[in-house]
Amino acid sequence: MKGIVLQRDQAAKIQLIDLPKPVCGPQEVLIQVKAAALNHRDEWCRKGLYPNLKDGVVLGSDGAGLVAELGAGVDPILIGKEVLINPAKNWGTNEKAQSRDFEILGMPSHGTLAEYIAVPADRIHAKPNHLNWEEAAALPLAALTAYRAVVVKGQVQAGDQVLVTGVGGGVAQFAAQFALALGAKVFVSSSSPEKLSQALALGASAGFNYLQLDWSAAALQQTGGMDLVIDGAAGDTLPNLMEVCKPGARIVFYGATRGNPGQLEARKLFWNQLQLIGTTMGSDADFLQMLQLVEKFTIKPVVDAVYPFSQAEQAFDRMKEGKQFGKITLVP
Ligand SMILES: NC(=O)c1ccc[n+]([C@@H]2O[C@H](COP(=O)([O-])OP(=O)(O)OC[C@H]3O[C@@H](n4cnc5c(N)ncnc54)[C@H](OP(=O)(O)O)[C@@H]3O)[C@@H](O)[C@H]2O)c1
Repeated sequence: MKGIVLQRDQAAKIQLIDLPKPVCGPQEVLIQVKAAALNHRDEWCRKGLYPNLKDGVVLGSDGAGLVAELGAGVDPILIGKEVLINPAKNWGTNEKAQSRDFEILGMPSHGTLAEYIAVPADRIHAKPNHLNWEEAAALPLAALTAYRAVVVKGQVQAGDQVLVTGVGGGVAQFAAQFALALGAKVFVSSSSPEKLSQALALGASAGFNYLQLDWSAAALQQTGGMDLVIDGAAGDTLPNLMEVCKPGARIVFYGATRGNPGQLEARKLFWNQLQLIGTTMGSDADFLQMLQLVEKFTIKPVVDAVYPFSQAEQAFDRMKEGKQFGKITLVP
């Protein structure tokens, strides 16, 4: 079968190669991948900026497809089912945080950017009927992360004012859609006027260009402030995020695309009763609740582009350059 592996001695750092078709172990299922999707994690791997990298490992955490074969002990009813894969392995029993054995599909274990993948049977879920293959593949990692950030950690309430930063990102577009579905008034930021317009079309109330130095002062004046901020950039934007908050607001971080914050205005933090909250992906319970939310409100992931596996380098480059609005997907 064909698969896209990390290969750091190649100019592109990734390579489409022939690999043996995986064999199901006990309690595993073999999925014939119909579509897969990229996360920024895949690009961090290609850049060599992810821990414990191994060349020759199939990249990709997100995928959807058909159950093609069953390992010993798996219910035969699953054969032929249309499913998507939860890439979060070994979360553990503590809902507050993942266990030490927590792993994400697609490094160090083989991922979804291949024609077939073997996964534990408890990682698969029925594909929501209203989604096509690319939309279903776009869902797992980013939607799980956004669900936990907005609902579990952010505790969003109907009527809350919510800012989702960098709305062009894969996680961010889910965060905006989930907050809207739950009755929040959603504001967004982006580097791109076109992406801000796309977010307004999704239901956002207003957008701010974070490349403009005074964007947070303008946002505060225009909106009266946020109850909740969902951010995956961190870096030097932290003072802006704190400025745009109402007293008592929560800022939930799921990423640090822009690195560590240079400064933290501690007095502003405590005087304004702000909460800085970290979050990572989500538990199995979060995944189930995320799927229920997506089905209840027939939420559709925004698919930015669909590439064949043979054009994986272009797909990764699109993510590297931040050109996308929503999820970049690949098909075998
Ligand atoms: N903790 C977790 O479980 C978890 C899960 C998923 C992702 N992540 C991390 O979260 C980050 C985003 O992941 P992703 O897959 O959604 O990536 P992505 O699709 O590549 O999106 C990245 C987005 O970041 C935005 N951005 C860049 N600089 C910004 C700034 N200064 N202020 C605000 N936004 C900025 C851009 O938005 P515009 O294009 O709109 O300007 C860009 O589209 C990555 O660092 C990733 O590693 C963590």
